Amino acid sequence: MSRDLTEPEIRKVRQGIREKYDKVAAAGPGGCFRYPTGREGMEQLGYPPEVLRDFPPAILAAFCGVGNPFSLGPLYPGDAVLDIGCGAGVDSLVAAHLVGEGGRVVGVDVTAAMIETARGHLARLGWPQVRFEPADAEALPFPADDFDAVISNGVFNLTLDKEQALAEAHRVLKPGGRLMLADMVLVAALPPEKGDKVENWFQ
Ligand SMILES: C[S@@+](CC[C@H](N)C(=O)[O-])C[C@H]1O[C@@H](n2cnc3c(N)ncnc32)[C@H](O)[C@@H]1O
Repeated sequence: MSRDLTEPEIRKVRQGIREKYDKVAAAGPGGCFRYPTGREGMEQLGYPPEVLRDFPPAILAAFCGVGNPFSLGPLYPGDAVLDIGCGAGVDSLVAAHLVGEGGRVVGVDVTAAMIETARGHLARLGWPQVRFEPADAEALPFPADDFDAVISNGVFNLTLDKEQALAEAHRVLKPGGRLMLADMVLVAALPPEKGDKVENWFQ
């Protein structure tokens, strides 16, 4: 949460996130993360075999999630799904494959360059049930009770106010809707040399 961060620290975190993901959008995730990304990451995380078989390799290569939100529960044909922090849009497109043309998928991301990359991927597939929009997890531009499911992969750890981001996800979910979220958590205190959380926020 941001409560114990100063305004300059908040600006520094936001700028660091933007710079990192501008780079990822321009050059792909290779070398930017300490876990397997791209097709290799998706294989290890158990993504659906037909996705790995049928999606264009350039789209699979752009995956930089930390887990597999689809392993947490089903998406049904016709569902409306929000992907928070969609990055290059890989999970949004997996969701679109699962909900079909009768469904609706919106991917949002705070980094404009990632949204442009996601739109490029969508243009290759031409799926009408998907759209990508710039937005912050902490201020979602959707009405209450709008989505059957919210998915997110590797994003909430980056948000400054995690309670607010979770409250927003809850607000836009229909009653009985599902939050299927994959992320990284700290399970122990950082060693002192890594203790500056502003410097380490987006490493
Ligand atoms: C590790 S990448 C994951 C991208 C995508 N979910 C995937 O699995 O490939 C994290 C993404 O979160 C986005 N992000 C960071 N903070 C955000 C926020 N407050 N709101 C929305 N997106 C955010 C970044 O721009 C980046 O695209």
